Amino acid sequence: MKVKVDQERCQGHTLCAMRAPEVFELDDVDGHSSPVSEDVPPGQEGAVQEAVRSCPERAISVS
Ligand code: F3S
Repeated sequence: MKVKVDQERCQGHTLCAMRAPEVFELDDVDGHSSPVSEDVPPGQEGAVQEAVRSCPERAISVS
């Protein structure tokens, strides 16, 4: 599974990082989220799906 965060859409709501802290990191300056790695680590798929659903900006996509 691959994950991306659309930087144009992300508004720094942080819910993704709460749902999947091993997958998403937040920028210290603007608070925007980005994946630690585009490849989702084994066992994190469910947490990533929750993050996708939780993002109010629909900024996260998986493939
Ligand atoms: Fe950004 Fe959505 Fe996460 S707005 S910080 S990708 S919950």
